[in-house]
Amino acid sequence: MILVLGAMREELACFSEHFEFVDGDEWNGVPVNRMRYKNLELVVAKSGVGKVLAAMVCQHLIEEYRPEAVVFTGIAGSVNPSLCVGDLVVSLDCVQHDLDATAMGIERGRVPYTVYRFIEADKGLVDKMRGFSPDWGRVHFGRVLTGDQFIAGEQRARMPYLTEELKGDVVEMEGASVALVCRVNAVPFVLLRVVSDNADGNAPDDFSAFLNRSSSHLAEALEFLFDRWG
Ligand code: ADE
Repeated sequence: MILVLGAMREELACFSEHFEFVDGDEWNGVPVNRMRYKNLELVVAKSGVGKVLAAMVCQHLIEEYRPEAVVFTGIAGSVNPSLCVGDLVVSLDCVQHDLDATAMGIERGRVPYTVYRFIEADKGLVDKMRGFSPDWGRVHFGRVLTGDQFIAGEQRARMPYLTEELKGDVVEMEGASVALVCRVNAVPFVLLRVVSDNADGNAPDDFSAFLNRSSSHLAEALEFLFDRWG
């Protein structure tokens, strides 16, 4: 069984057109759908936005379903100027950019007194995504930065460390918390993110149409991954 998570309903909306619905459940208001793609069993759940909800839902579903892998899907803002809206980012690793104990002499992003800072995605899952070349955008393998902030406009200018120190490609609000849960539980994971904005306050004109397209593109990326499973 593969656990597929997304933060918002819109990010998962098109999955029902690509994967066969088996049955639906709910846990503390979190919709959890069992689905099937070819011979693969999937559990698809909406975690909610932000690090705490995502980590909590991921831990619960790992305990409940014992998945062989976790894939977190959704949109992200780019901080790497070479990325364009619509591109797909496959995580090589990720870090909590807002975990800041620098005043204690600990590097930005490190969970204090642990080995956890940049958390690498599973190499096998990342490698399965190589060769994916959709006609709707480029595919970039890179670093995902996670924090409990939607980064837009002037805020971005106050965060030069996102690129200078952390060398990130995109920012989002869940990935590194899910990654930490997966690492601690020894479950392989990868993050798949479609670029929705440049973390500058400008979103695509028709954002709901964009979200719908992104969801369909993420489902295509998942199909590519699942076709290489096993
Ligand atoms: N998800 C999509 N765009 C984002 C941004 N600019 N900041 C944080 N999360 C995002």
